[in-house]
Amino acid sequence: MHDMAIEIRNLSKRFISTKRRAIVFPVERKAVDALRSVNLDIPRGRVYGLLGPNGAGKTTLIKILATLVIPTSGTATIMGHDVLSDSSAVRAIIGVCQGNERSIYWKLSARENLVFFGRLYRLTKTEAKERADELLGQMGLLDKADEKVENLSHGMRMKIVFARALLHDPPVLLLDEPTQGLDPTFATDLRRHVQKELRDKTILLTTHYMHEADMLCDKIALINDGEIKSVGTPHELKEEVRDYDSIHIIMRGVPDMTRIRALEEVLSASVTEQDGGAELVVTARNGYDLARRVLNLLHDTPGVRVERFEVKEPTLDDVFLKLTGRRIED
Ligand SMILES: Nc1ncnc2c1ncn2[C@@H]1O[C@H](COP(=O)(O)OP(=O)(O)OP(=O)(O)O)[C@@H](O)[C@H]1O
Ligand SMILES: [Mg+2]
Repeated sequence: MHDMAIEIRNLSKRFISTKRRAIVFPVERKAVDALRSVNLDIPRGRVYGLLGPNGAGKTTLIKILATLVIPTSGTATIMGHDVLSDSSAVRAIIGVCQGNERSIYWKLSARENLVFFGRLYRLTKTEAKERADELLGQMGLLDKADEKVENLSHGMRMKIVFARALLHDPPVLLLDEPTQGLDPTFATDLRRHVQKELRDKTILLTTHYMHEADMLCDKIALINDGEIKSVGTPHELKEEVRDYDSIHIIMRGVPDMTRIRALEEVLSASVTEQDGGAELVVTARNGYDLARRVLNLLHDTPGVRVERFEVKEPTLDDVFLKLTGRRIED
C-alpha cells in the first residue's frame, strides 16, 4: 500500500507553439515552460489546493495527472500507477472535473446524462440509475432529474459535471476550478459537498479563490510561472510571512492604555474613542496569545465591556505577494 495517493517527481512540461505571420515568413516557434520540475506528494485522504494566478500551470498539472497531456520530463503516479505507462489504471481510479458545462449532453436530461456516463464506467443499467439518483439527490437536483440539460442553469449544469466525476466512486478527484463562475449559493453547496461527502477521498483542486483554498484544503501548494513556491497548511503559509498580527477590539468604556502597553510582547497600541466607547488596536507577533491577555485585562477594567474583537492575520494573497511579487487575483 502506498501512503501517498499522488507522487509527482521533477515534472516538467514545455509547450511549443508555432506561428507563421504570413506564408513568406518562416514558422516561429515559441517555447512555454508551463511546469518546471514540480515535486509534490499528496497523502491519501487529503485535500490539496493548487493556488496561483492565470497561466501558472495549474490546468497543465491537472491534465497530466488526468492522462490528458504528456509531460516533457519527470514522472507522476496515482496510487502507485504511472500516468504514462499505466494510464488506463489511472483513469479507472480518478474522477476529473474540468468545469466545462459543454462536456455533458444538452439534449439529454440530467439523469440520462449520468446514466449514460455511468454505463461508460461499466456500471449495469440498474447500478447506473441508482447511482445517478443518489448523486442527483446529494446535489439537490432530484426535482430537475428529467429536465433537459439545455433548460438548466449554469450552476445546475456544473453540478451535473461534478456529479459525473463521482459516478464510479473514484478514490482520487482532480478538480480544476470547480466553483469558477458559480453564484455564491451554488459554490457554497459544492464546497459543503466536498467537506461532508468526500472526506475519504484524495482531492487535488485548483482555484483562484483564496477563501476556498483556506476553507477546504489541508495543504496548499502555491504555484507561479510553472514552479511550486511553497507548500503548507494555510496557517503555516501565513506564518511564513507573518510579521505581526493586529487585534481589533470594540468596547463600551475606555481602556487603561498604560496597562495595555505594559503587557509583554505588545508592539504597539492605539485607541480611538467614539461616543461612549472605543476601538483599541494592539499589534503583536502572536496575536492569539496576546488577545487573550488583553481581553482578561479589559475584563478587569471597571466601566469597560468588550463588544467585539478580531485578530487580523495575513491572507494567502499576502503570502503569495511576498513569495512572488504578484497577487493571485490581479
Ligand atoms: N496547449 C498549449 N499550447 C501552448 N501553450 C499552452 C498550452 N496549454 C497551456 N499553455 C501555456 O502554459 C502556461 C500554463 O497554462 P495553464 O493553463 O496550465 O495555466 P493555469 O494556471 O491553469 O491558468 P488559469 O488560472 O488561467 O486557468 C500558460 O502560459 C499557457 O499559455
Ligand atoms: Mg487553468
